[in-house]
Amino acid sequence: MSLNDLHRITAQQPGEAEALPFETYRDPEHFEIERRQIFAADWVFVCMEADLPDPGDYHALKIADEHVVVVRGSDGELRALSNVCRHRGAVMLQGSGNTSKIVCPYHAWTYGQAGALQGVPHRGEVAVDRATHCLPRFRLGTFFGLVFVSLDDDAPALDERFRGLEKYFARYGVERFEHRYPIDVQPWQANWKLPMENFVEGYHFFAVHPRTVETAASTRDCFYVEGHADWSITGGSQLDDPDTWKDWIRGRSREVHYLSICLPPNFVCNLYDGYMNWARVLPTGPTTCEIATGSCSLHAFQASQEYIAIAEQTTAEDREICEMVQQGISSRRSKGGRLVELERAVVDFHQYLGKRLFGEDHSRRFRTEHADHFDGTCSAAASESPGPAAASSRVPRAGPTCSA
Ligand code: FES
Ligand SMILES: [Fe+2]
Repeated sequence: MSLNDLHRITAQQPGEAEALPFETYRDPEHFEIERRQIFAADWVFVCMEADLPDPGDYHALKIADEHVVVVRGSDGELRALSNVCRHRGAVMLQGSGNTSKIVCPYHAWTYGQAGALQGVPHRGEVAVDRATHCLPRFRLGTFFGLVFVSLDDDAPALDERFRGLEKYFARYGVERFEHRYPIDVQPWQANWKLPMENFVEGYHFFAVHPRTVETAASTRDCFYVEGHADWSITGGSQLDDPDTWKDWIRGRSREVHYLSICLPPNFVCNLYDGYMNWARVLPTGPTTCEIATGSCSLHAFQASQEYIAIAEQTTAEDREICEMVQQGISSRRSKGGRLVELERAVVDFHQYLGKRLFGEDHSRRFRTEHADHFDGTCSAAASESPGPAAASSRVPRAGPTCSA
């Protein structure tokens, strides 16, 4: 695949920007470049800290061919460990759960929550040096309750990566959203960029979600807040109708705005007063990905059957359209067109791709008057939030082997 078109398009500014070349959503060689320069190099979202509240809580995932498990140790620390056994390479933990030890399913070598080798069954007279058979560790960082892992020991610090976002997260006090709801994981038949592009724009609400999202937050009420290649923020107004699920999702205040925050490569959330739902996108192949969704809230609540049904329906609608687009972009004759104003965050995402793939940042930080509403809210909320300094202080350097 020629990279020239991609290079040109990821350098475009809003107003002139176009959709990406269709080959980038299906080409195996391009997928390999993204794997190496994006997912193996940048900070990748895993889950919320609130998803792993207790010692032994873990969440396993695959990032750029690395099987990683994030575990909370008995000392309360979160660690990102290799989830590959040091004996003969079996993948050990799956999904989410709680365990006092990591036990390999193959020959039951056993590791502690910090990755130290603790047991080798039936080893006979053979000595297995525990110090050199620990699970390797990856860099882990938290930012306002969000947990990220980077496979690259030289990636910039997390607070530097997300500089400028503090006031938005602090305004909502996201790190205090301790009530969580189970993470749902689904395989989608779509290149990972399709759901990312889909989740960051409200342009499709009226057409794809006419009886779900559009009834609560209309396309015509979506707006851009602030952004550039490294992250973008859009928002919207919710219809002030107290009659339905939107009143529940709005929380206890009469706040009728929400924010959508995109932290590329793989995190998007919708942020409301006292509530957040998020999506994590991980590529699994050139034309497939895995979508994980979760939510957390400030106060405990019992989601009504009506709300659960609407949330599931919304996800199903997004899945159907993304998988349909994946079918469409197999075309050799057709090609993408102009992006409209409501897709400005998609342009940011494309500029992110350009920055990672070509090493050139063509983005100009763009900020609308909506961003003004958040000025000054950071200092007011900062005393209650960990803030960027606290966030960065929780980014330990990774080591090739565990030191525990
Ligand atoms: S591969 Fe894990 S114990 Fe053998
Ligand atoms: Fe959608």
